[in-house]
Amino acid sequence: MRVVIMGAPGAGKGTQSVRLARTWGVPHVSTGELLRETVKLGSDLGRRVKETLACGRLVSDEMMVDLLRERLARPDCRSGFVLDGYPRTQRQAEDLDALLAVMGSTLDCTLLIEVPDDTVLHRLGGRRTCPSCQAVYHVDQIGKRDGAVCERCGTAVTIRDDDEESTIRRRLQIYDEQTRPMLDHYRRQGKLKNVDGRGTPDEVYDRLTSLAQMANG
Ligand code: AP5
Ligand code: MG
Repeated sequence: MRVVIMGAPGAGKGTQSVRLARTWGVPHVSTGELLRETVKLGSDLGRRVKETLACGRLVSDEMMVDLLRERLARPDCRSGFVLDGYPRTQRQAEDLDALLAVMGSTLDCTLLIEVPDDTVLHRLGGRRTCPSCQAVYHVDQIGKRDGAVCERCGTAVTIRDDDEESTIRRRLQIYDEQTRPMLDHYRRQGKLKNVDGRGTPDEVYDRLTSLAQMANG
């Protein structure tokens, strides 16, 4: 399976991509995670990326295509991938088509998770992430108190730097201005499937898997 999961910040892309990748036996490729790994290196590039992420802006298309080319060339992507958070601009969508053409493949489908802005604000306002294994939680699940730990690896969970309310609003604005118009690229190719992202993670997962199955024949 070669599938792109799209949607606004907080739509549930990461939550669902992890599950879908496990189901299909392919890697979960999150460009946000790749960038946060770059930040951890502490290099000059890492410091510049950290600033861009912290203010909620997009990293340049040139850097993104280099990052993606390197990641999709790794052997684990040979049988497919669940791509989360890429593309976000028209140029990135065209770059992805070109990368896949070189690899002799195409996307099976692109799934767009749709949720209202007030749901995004609630989801991101309460998100906690594990800095070690990247597991994602919500305070509705694990409680608000300090000292909550990751259920998988026991590390103390943290709040992402870009989950402050003003930055969330900036990310939503950038999504509307730069990413939403790009969706036409996939509409024109007949590959865009819209999915209602409201409801429980299980309900959204069921909608995603049945649409992906239909798209895959
Ligand atoms: P990225 O890490 O991709 O962030 P994002 O797009 O803003 O999306 P999020 O990760 O915040 O949300 P999500 O949709 O994954 O939701 P999640 O599953 O965590 O990118 C970060 C930054 O990197 C960007 O701002 C940009 O600067 C840069 N970047 C990345 N890719 C780039 C690119 N291609 N080009 C340029 N720059 C790029 O869920 C959120 C919360 O809701 C969690 O707490 C979760 O537990 C909860 N939740 C999920 N589903 C449900 C549900 N059904 N019901 C209740 N709660 C739920
Ligand atoms: Mg995510």
